[in-house]
Amino acid sequence: MLLLFVFLFSLSSPLTSSLNQDGLFLWQAKLQLSDPTNALSNWNERDATPCAWHGVVCDNATGNVIQLDLTNSQLEGPFPITLCRIPSLTYISLSENSINSSLTADIANCTNLQHINLSSNLIVGLIPETLSQIPALRYLDLSFNNLSGDIPARFGEFQKLETLMLVGNLLNGTIPSSLGNISTLKVLSLAYNPFTSSPIPCEFGSLVNLEELWFSYSNLIGSIPSNLTRLTKLKNLDLSGNKLSGSIPSSIIELASIVQIELFDNSLSGELPAGMSNLTALRRFDASTNNLTGSIPDELCSLPLESLNLFENGFEGSLPASIARSPNLYELKLFSNNLSGPLPSDLGKISPLQYIDVSYNQFYGEVPANLCARGVLEELVLIYNSFSGIIPDSLGKCRSLRRIRLRNNKLSGSVPDTFWGLPHLYLLELLDNSLSGQISTAISGANNLSVLLISNNHFTGSIPDEIGSLTNLVEFVALHNSFTGGIPASMVKLSQLGKLDLSDNQISGKIPGGIQALKKLNELNLANNKLDGEIPREIGSLPALNYLDLSGNRLSGEIPLELENLKLNLLNLSNNHLSGNIPPSFANQNYIDSFEGNPGLCGDPSGLCLSYSESKNRRNLWIFRSMFMLAGIVFMVGVVWFYCKYRNFKKMKKGFTISKWKSFHKLGFSEYEIVKLLNEDNVIGSYGYIAPEYAYTLRVNEKSDIYSFGVVILELVTGRLPVDAEYGEKDLVKWVSSTLNQKGIEHVIDPTLDTIHMEEIRKMLDVGLVCTSSLPINRPSMRRVVKMLHEASPGFQSKSIKKDGILSPYYHNEEASDQGSLVLSYVLKD
Ligand SMILES: *[C@@H]1O[C@H](CO)[C@@H](O)[C@H](O)[C@H]1NC(C)=O
Ligand SMILES: *[C@@H]1O[C@H](CO)[C@@H](O)[C@H](O)[C@H]1NC(C)=O
Ligand SMILES: *[C@@H]1O[C@H](CO)[C@@H](O)[C@H](O)[C@H]1NC(C)=O
Ligand SMILES: *[C@@H]1O[C@H](CO)[C@@H](O)[C@H](O)[C@H]1NC(C)=O
Ligand SMILES: *[C@@H]1O[C@H](CO)[C@@H](O)[C@H](O)[C@H]1NC(C)=O
Ligand SMILES: *[C@@H]1O[C@H](CO)[C@@H](O)[C@H](O)[C@H]1NC(C)=O
Ligand SMILES: *[C@@H]1O[C@H](CO)[C@@H](O)[C@H](O)[C@H]1NC(C)=O
Ligand SMILES: *[C@@H]1O[C@H](CO)[C@@H](O)[C@H](O)[C@H]1NC(C)=O
Ligand SMILES: *[C@@H]1O[C@H](CO)[C@@H](O)[C@H](O)[C@H]1NC(C)=O
Ligand SMILES: *[C@@H]1O[C@H](CO)[C@@H](O)[C@H](O)[C@H]1NC(C)=O
Ligand SMILES: *[C@@H]1O[C@H](CO)[C@@H](O)[C@H](O)[C@H]1NC(C)=O
Ligand SMILES: *[C@@H]1O[C@H](CO)[C@@H](O)[C@H](O)[C@H]1NC(C)=O
Repeated sequence: MLLLFVFLFSLSSPLTSSLNQDGLFLWQAKLQLSDPTNALSNWNERDATPCAWHGVVCDNATGNVIQLDLTNSQLEGPFPITLCRIPSLTYISLSENSINSSLTADIANCTNLQHINLSSNLIVGLIPETLSQIPALRYLDLSFNNLSGDIPARFGEFQKLETLMLVGNLLNGTIPSSLGNISTLKVLSLAYNPFTSSPIPCEFGSLVNLEELWFSYSNLIGSIPSNLTRLTKLKNLDLSGNKLSGSIPSSIIELASIVQIELFDNSLSGELPAGMSNLTALRRFDASTNNLTGSIPDELCSLPLESLNLFENGFEGSLPASIARSPNLYELKLFSNNLSGPLPSDLGKISPLQYIDVSYNQFYGEVPANLCARGVLEELVLIYNSFSGIIPDSLGKCRSLRRIRLRNNKLSGSVPDTFWGLPHLYLLELLDNSLSGQISTAISGANNLSVLLISNNHFTGSIPDEIGSLTNLVEFVALHNSFTGGIPASMVKLSQLGKLDLSDNQISGKIPGGIQALKKLNELNLANNKLDGEIPREIGSLPALNYLDLSGNRLSGEIPLELENLKLNLLNLSNNHLSGNIPPSFANQNYIDSFEGNPGLCGDPSGLCLSYSESKNRRNLWIFRSMFMLAGIVFMVGVVWFYCKYRNFKKMKKGFTISKWKSFHKLGFSEYEIVKLLNEDNVIGSYGYIAPEYAYTLRVNEKSDIYSFGVVILELVTGRLPVDAEYGEKDLVKWVSSTLNQKGIEHVIDPTLDTIHMEEIRKMLDVGLVCTSSLPINRPSMRRVVKMLHEASPGFQSKSIKKDGILSPYYHNEEASDQGSLVLSYVLKD
């Protein structure tokens, strides 16, 4: 036994080892780490030197180990402090591993280090102040860990530090003004930490070598110190996502080297300063979501900008024509201001415009014909303005377009034929204009078209057969036009179709046979047309249908008994020529309005011609049923869902480089990006649904899903949108709690809900509130939520949770540009 032990011991630590001292230190480090993927498999202690080992670099002349780079090697365990005994080591990167200890004061023994990169690990505890005693240290990157407490005040003593990155930790102290003493500093990145609210130390104005200051989502308050504008080498200033107030200092025009200014999502007010034409290096300017007023300065627009984002402010006046002269402009987002006048007619002529969104302003005049002159326009969003005239022919040739949103304008004339058939088009939204003419047969080319919204126009002619080839079509809403002819038989091939609304037209003929092929159809509205013939029995086999309105037509014959198979939230067959018996399960008070105006029906079975009153019940039923379906689905898919999201977040984190001149908030951490990400995963993921802790922790878990789910509950119970100007600075969650406290429950719940079910509604509201607790720890698990919902309304436990039950009555159109809320219908889609 003893012999065996000695034998094993001698194997693992050969007495004959010729490994040099640096190698022995590295070997000891290896022994402290768990290496599940054998990343260190070629670290062989029988070697004479470690110079050929994975990640190790030796000095060619002396043979000493000088660098160790084990980035992304899946190593786990404590920080191997023995590394600090390697005398010539100047560079350590253990970035993207699972170092899970805290850092100790001993790290200062690494006296020769110039570069420490421990980003993206699981390091906890405080930052050792002794780091500042490493005399040659130039790069220190501890981003994306769980470090907490203060940034040590002694960090002001760094002698040579050029880069300090502490992004995405749990640092919760104040920001030491002593950092202003590190005169060698070029990059200072402190973003995404839950610092104690404090102003930007004006001492930072002394960092005269600073090139990047990244300070977003860091609980900054107060105004932007004008001292900062002394940073004449600064290229990138990112102060987004704080609570900065006051005006933008007029001295900002002294930032002679500035390339990018990100001030979005603060409470800045006043006007943009004069003299911005001095910022000749400026390419990206984003002051969105503030309280800025005045006009957009011509001096800003004359710069060769790449991106100008000023949305959600109080800007007024017109858009300077000079903006069209930038040879670089690819992004222009000015929505939700009070801008007026026409858009410059040559906008897009020389700029490679990809995204333009000027929605929710008072722009008027024609849609500029050159928007897509460079052929790269992908998103054209002009909704809620007063644009008039025709849709320019040139847009019909713009094959790069993916999203076109022109609703609520005064556009007229017919739509260019080719416009209907753009090959990459995903969303075409033309509703609420005065457009006329026909839907072109060219629409067959729109292979990717998913949402086609053309209601409230003057379109005529028949709906072309070619519409049946749009295999990706999910929504087709064309109500209130003057369409004639029949419903094309080809439409039953639209296997993705969830919503079809052709109401208020002059469509005639029969409802096509084979309609049962529309497996995903959830809402069918053909009301107020001239349809005749019988209601096809096959409608009763549409598995997802929950909204059926065929009222105001000339339908005749008996109501098919098969309709009883449907789980309908709305059934309206009124004002037709139907006859015979009403199917027994509809012969009750809940369907009081569904059959009126069919003289052949009324009076037949007793109890049918009911008094009109209690139709509210239906909505209650609907809500409860919906909640169960949703809870069930979230419960079932929760794990997968979480995994997908988490993986994507990891991906985002990795693809993220600080020194690149991309806009930081587009690299991954703004709510907007999270919104997009979540939408891609078909997750409840719109602005207003996101748990508050995302803003600074960037961490996704079940608790944040619960939050989103809670918002949906609140939305259903209150009948309100998750974000709305009415809440002021609040969102729905905060609005509900404060209104509940101040005014009581009656002011919170949706007035169209029937108070007979007050008790259930109250319980439901409680569930919503506990799910949206601001502290994640107070939120229940999904399992618990499902249980609570069952307890809240015992009568409505749904037996059949249908995966494709799309609940479109609560689909809100994307109202405010990209932050609209696509709620249940998108959650439940596949
Ligand atoms: C060492 O020499 C190799 C090849 O001769 C060279 O590629 C490498 O850059 C040198 N490394 C250092 C640190 O000088
Ligand atoms: C750190 O990781 C090691 C190796 O996986 C593990 O044994 C240890 O328990 C972890 N420590 C902490 C505090 O998580
Ligand atoms: C640290 O490593 C990551 C890669 O894991 C890299 O993106 C980052 O730029 C490095 N930090 C510094 C200061 O070089
Ligand atoms: C760090 O240096 C101090 C003083 O030189 C020494 O006492 C300590 O043991 C060293 N720590 C490590 C982990 O080598
Ligand atoms: C890091 O912090 C997050 C958020 O507080 C927490 O969920 C996670 O468990 C922490 N991880 C470690 C390794 O401490
Ligand atoms: C910072 O966080 C730590 C650990 O969570 C906590 O103990 C401490 O009280 C916090 N400090 C402040 C100022 O909030
Ligand atoms: C900055 O350095 C100066 C002189 O080196 C010193 O007097 C001052 O206290 C330091 N400031 C801070 C805030 O540490
Ligand atoms: C900031 O600027 C003001 C006036 O511009 C000056 O009085 C003050 O000393 C400066 N503060 C620092 C810390 O540089
Ligand atoms: C913006 O200004 C208005 C009126 O001055 C004020 O009511 C509102 O609270 C401000 N909003 C923000 C986010 O500062
Ligand atoms: C703006 O630029 C002009 C011309 O280069 C220069 O004369 C002027 O001093 C600058 N203004 C400021 C405030 O820097
Ligand atoms: C927007 O401008 C119009 C006139 O152009 C003015 O009547 C209106 O009050 C402004 N609205 C806001 C919110 O500033
Ligand atoms: C179709 O539209 C989706 C959503 O915009 C997009 O992701 C996809 O790339 C498009 N496909 C094609 C072929 O254009």
